[in-house]
Amino acid sequence: MKFFVDTADVAAIAELNDLGMVDGVTTNPSLILKSGRDILEVTKEICGIVSGPVSAEVVALKADEMIAEGRKLAEIAPNIAVKVPLTWDGLKTCKTLSDDGFMVNVTLCFSANQALLAAKAGATFISPFIGRLDDINLDGLELIQDIRTVYDNYSFKTQILAASIRTANHVSQCALIGADVMTAPPAVIKGLASHVLTDKGLEQFMADWAKTGQKII
Ligand code: E4P
Repeated sequence: MKFFVDTADVAAIAELNDLGMVDGVTTNPSLILKSGRDILEVTKEICGIVSGPVSAEVVALKADEMIAEGRKLAEIAPNIAVKVPLTWDGLKTCKTLSDDGFMVNVTLCFSANQALLAAKAGATFISPFIGRLDDINLDGLELIQDIRTVYDNYSFKTQILAASIRTANHVSQCALIGADVMTAPPAVIKGLASHVLTDKGLEQFMADWAKTGQKII
């Protein structure tokens, strides 16, 4: 499963990228706001750090304006994936930009039917939001499983980009289901290294090592 980092924080992206943990980046208007940066400038900087797909989201709501925004975002770098919302206009934009050879990430997906439409419109990525479904007591992971089944039934090439990931459990379950990509905030990715038994075991090893009185260097 590919790891995308869900942030516009350049320092956090660079740190994870240096460790080989970043296969791509996703941003959205809320993350651009959080960064305090200009969208075109920060997206260009991110594309200079990461060689994989970098999602940049359009903000118009009408297809013709979305297409114009998407083309402008795609000019930033060849690894831009234009992110469009899963609306009828977003699907029209997806079809046009995909036909033109651009990568398109269809976002704000909350049902298998929406994912089916995005695949038929030629989406490179579909972004089902797990955490936001869990927030309203629905099962976000069940949606990932349903989309996996639908896409496999018909050999759709659209990649399932599990989004709105909040926990380590979301990550491992997405990998077990067979999501192609997951995108998570830097803190969630770093948190995957933590395990209570690792901490406990290390504490014991350090205590025993101190008792040996030895040094390696
Ligand atoms: C994905 O592309 C979105 O930017 C993101 O995963 C949304 O996550 P949130 O629901 O935690 O805001």
